[in-house]
Amino acid sequence: MDNKRVFLIVLDSMGIGELPDACRWNDEGSNTLGAIRNHPAFDCPNLKQMGLFNIEGVGGGVPSPSGSYARLVEKSLGKDTTIGHWEIAGLVSERPLPTYPEGFPEEVISEFESRTGRKTLCNRPYSGTDVIRDYGKEHLETGALIVYTSADSVFQIAAHEDLVPVPELYRYCEIAREILQGKHGVGRVIARPFTGEWPFTRTANRHDYSLLPPGETMLDRLSSNGFDMISVGKIEDIFAERGVTEGHRITGNRDGMEKTIAIADRDFNGLCFVNLVDFDMKYGHRNDVEGYARAMTEFDSQLGELLPKLRENDLLMITADHGCDPSTPSTDHSREHVPFLVFGKRARRGVDMKTRPSFADISATVLAYFGLPQGETSGNSMLDEFLIPDDGKLMRMAEDARKMSYCPYSGFSVGAALLTEDGEVFTGCNIESATFTPTVCAERTALFKAVSEGKRSFSKIAISGGKAGEEGQFCAPCGVCRQMLSEFCGPEFQVLLGTGSDFKSYPLGELLPHFFQKDQLNQG
Ligand code: THU
Repeated sequence: MDNKRVFLIVLDSMGIGELPDACRWNDEGSNTLGAIRNHPAFDCPNLKQMGLFNIEGVGGGVPSPSGSYARLVEKSLGKDTTIGHWEIAGLVSERPLPTYPEGFPEEVISEFESRTGRKTLCNRPYSGTDVIRDYGKEHLETGALIVYTSADSVFQIAAHEDLVPVPELYRYCEIAREILQGKHGVGRVIARPFTGEWPFTRTANRHDYSLLPPGETMLDRLSSNGFDMISVGKIEDIFAERGVTEGHRITGNRDGMEKTIAIADRDFNGLCFVNLVDFDMKYGHRNDVEGYARAMTEFDSQLGELLPKLRENDLLMITADHGCDPSTPSTDHSREHVPFLVFGKRARRGVDMKTRPSFADISATVLAYFGLPQGETSGNSMLDEFLIPDDGKLMRMAEDARKMSYCPYSGFSVGAALLTEDGEVFTGCNIESATFTPTVCAERTALFKAVSEGKRSFSKIAISGGKAGEEGQFCAPCGVCRQMLSEFCGPEFQVLLGTGSDFKSYPLGELLPHFFQKDQLNQG
């Protein structure tokens, strides 16, 4: 089966240390992982083995991590969930979503009042339970709507269900959503219905109206090209459902991972995009270091259940959308780097992809894995750095290497691409000499490059050759190269011969049976 599946898990707020511009956000010194990693309740062997601590700037890595890893910079000017996820999905924001610490401006309120036919109350940041206690009576007496905000980019409308039926409140939210675009494009408009007698209680009819992403995202590209785009948790809200082909609501981190594990038992072809919000909502904002550490430990153990379910063509990616250091006085998000870990049978182990300039590199990588052009999405793919090439790709790398051939005497150019056991590729071309005999074949160039870099174990070589300037043809390795390959490679080692589109694989044992064995040197 050719299905490809990517599991992309966002540990909401799991930053790994301040960004260079953190001081402009009053977040100097913030390091969410740093704040929890030494707590006794923190025990994350799976993340550790995958390379979480091998990431640049993190410290305390393991000697041979099972995954590849990078540290990502947030390019967008923001540090909230929406902007962080949009960037992960390839959409970079030039400015943060607007917040209204002084309340919404007159232009917004007057248009809202005239289009709803109702006056408004409050219009400033307020706690959701306090606001109905303090303004609920006046609301019932005058029919004016309670409009309030928070430290987040939200426009919230509270109304009593007996006075304003829920569908009517939802209609007011839709009006607000239409008004709040562009400069006043708040992240969410939220319906906050309440009921009963003073001090009133909120009902379960809360409803969020997210801002549509103002450009194309990885989700749009995947779904419009026929791939599955499965949302777990609040992903579907963050993208206002656009580009989502299937959504799963969750009650918390544990439930989110259980649903993800269940999805891993199914067939699909595309992305399963997961957000685990407890880290942020329950522990980061509440400055609960121990709770955060425990939640990570729980995630890590569930990760241990997910790993064995990964199939041949699956990639698991783990990242975050911003920081929220629970050890600093601030209860707000922090402007931090985020981790990127990638793991799977087709992913190399231990590739350090260093610090990269945007979360959007994740989107570019996912799209590249599914063979889709990036369209309007941003980012630079990391795929070539960590993906173990398949046979076709290895053959194309041999063809590319062939372009470097130095063959003025024979006019016969050859390229080779040698795959090491750990997934790295060394390429080579033939290099000729005016005295002819010192000529080195493409295969040996590749092999010598690899051996001189310390490599000793290999799994495959692709060879492409032919008259220079013409299409490749079937070009079998010479006897010297066969003998030289036998020095390092066993009889199962695969030799791919042909062109990028048409090739065959031969075991080395078939191409050179009864080769000269090194232990013969010690005989007699
Ligand atoms: N050559 C290779 O590089 N690899 C092979 O498998 C066969 C031959 C080169 C050596 C020389 O430069 C040219 O092809 C013609 O023999």
